[in-house]
Amino acid sequence: MQRVITSAPSKVILFGEHAVVYGEPAIAVAINLRTTVMMERAREYSVNGEPLDDRYHRYIKKAIELLWDGEPLRITTASAVPSASGMGSSASITVATVSALLAMMGREEERNVALNSFRVEYETQGRASPIDTSTVTHGKGILVANRKMDNFLWEVERGGTRWYIHHLEVPPLKLVVGFSGIKGHTPEMVEKVRRFYTWNAFARDVIREIGRITLEAIEPLENEDYERIGELMNRNNKLLTILGVSHPKLKEMIDASLRYSYGAKITGAGGGGCMIALTDEQDEVAKAIEEVGGKAYKVSIAQRGYEIMSRE
Ligand code: MEV
Repeated sequence: MQRVITSAPSKVILFGEHAVVYGEPAIAVAINLRTTVMMERAREYSVNGEPLDDRYHRYIKKAIELLWDGEPLRITTASAVPSASGMGSSASITVATVSALLAMMGREEERNVALNSFRVEYETQGRASPIDTSTVTHGKGILVANRKMDNFLWEVERGGTRWYIHHLEVPPLKLVVGFSGIKGHTPEMVEKVRRFYTWNAFARDVIREIGRITLEAIEPLENEDYERIGELMNRNNKLLTILGVSHPKLKEMIDASLRYSYGAKITGAGGGGCMIALTDEQDEVAKAIEEVGGKAYKVSIAQRGYEIMSRE
């Protein structure tokens, strides 16, 4: 194959971020902000016209290192996902790149894309759980659990923790994502929570309670009970705040959006990055978020995960 074009969505976590690192359940959905990658055989490696560089193209470089031993590639990327926002920009570029490399080799089955994308993220940033790469690969909704349940897709094991990834049927949720404009650093936030978790029994209780809230959310998600989903989001948010991953800007956006929402919470690693609100009034919520200085994205669920858009 000479040329492949792929695309991958981004994601938001509805329930269970941070807790999922310790094997607790979590729920995420893919959203329709996408990254596109075009890959062509060439004389030397380049990304968007620049030489392939560890500092700027970490995920692409790692994917090539782990998966490719063919001739050099000219790679062109375009992404609608703001970086370090908590919306999975690194998973999105990773999955788009990995699926393109695997498509070049005719090995782009979903499970293969998901497992290799997790490997790339993990080896690049010591990533803690496979939730982002699995959601971006599969699209729709994902439930990560600590045992096999209905709609099982694949499992992942790292450092003694095993995650079972499942498809989750989710209703057409109307979400607004509010970006604080402050870059969140996932490895630092995961480390901060890890210290708290290691030394403090109360933090361990908080993590377990987040896991319980996630499991409680499955039924209302299936029954489109938005009031209940919103309540559980608010409870999850309180616990994330206790874990120390909030930020005054996130709190301001959450408070502003609650006037028009069923519920709102930090999403992703926190410490900056994004919040999400579940609402019937996306315009009102977006306005409220922008009034307090955030950037609002009215998003819907991406039904498709990674896609091979063309191959020649
Ligand atoms: C980040 O999107 C989610 C975290 O739980 C880290 C992870 O699971 O890899 C904070």
